[in-house]
Amino acid sequence: MENFSVMMAVCLLAGLSECQTGATQPSCNPLIYTVLKELGALGEKLAATARALEETNKRLEASEKKLSALENSAEYQGRPRIAFSATFSTDVTIGPVTVLYALVYNHVLFNTGGHYSPVTGYFTAPVQGVYYFTFTSFCWSGSSGGGLYRNGNSIVSWYGNLNSSSRSNSAILQLQVGDHVNVRLWENQKISGHPNNYSTFSGFLIFPV
Ligand SMILES: *[C@@H]1O[C@H](CO)[C@@H](O)[C@H](O)[C@H]1NC(C)=O
Ligand SMILES: *[C@@H]1O[C@H](CO)[C@@H](O)[C@H](O)[C@H]1NC(C)=O
Repeated sequence: MENFSVMMAVCLLAGLSECQTGATQPSCNPLIYTVLKELGALGEKLAATARALEETNKRLEASEKKLSALENSAEYQGRPRIAFSATFSTDVTIGPVTVLYALVYNHVLFNTGGHYSPVTGYFTAPVQGVYYFTFTSFCWSGSSGGGLYRNGNSIVSWYGNLNSSSRSNSAILQLQVGDHVNVRLWENQKISGHPNNYSTFSGFLIFPV
């Protein structure tokens, strides 16, 4: 870049002196003089761009250092790992039930930390945070409806009255330590389990708060 600037300066001077000494000669061309001047300005701009690029590179390097420090930090490494997925293991139809019925997905596919209970069907939040829950409910025939409940309060639900079909829903919830979440079947409704795992309940921690 410096070499280029020097070269430009030399060119400019050469152009100038030629013009001055040969003022009376036809070789003094004002167009060449203008072009040289513009080239000089361009060189300056190029140098400025290169300096800006160097600045950007320095900032990028600093950001990368910060990122790698964050990735190695105890906070990032120590983030609790909480996730589960469960189904009904058998070919079974539950219902029509006569009360609001807490479903127990007794077959665990995954349950890191063990915060979902395949005995009660409840997930219990071990840390305060934002969680994602989803369920899919299959039913062979008749009316199927129910919902996702936090501490006994309905959050999202499903309903349908077609044979052999699935419905699903999901929610992102902020939970306090000890809050519990489960899926319940409404009164007079049905749901079916199957070894193909048609009906599922899953959840995981997105981030602690
Ligand atoms: C659903 O299946 C039942 C038999 O299990 C049948 O009587 C009923 O007509 C079916 N309903 C629909 C909507 O296909
Ligand atoms: C259902 O889950 C069980 C247990 O993980 C698995 O062995 C089986 O292959 C699953 N069935 C289907 C159809 O995915």
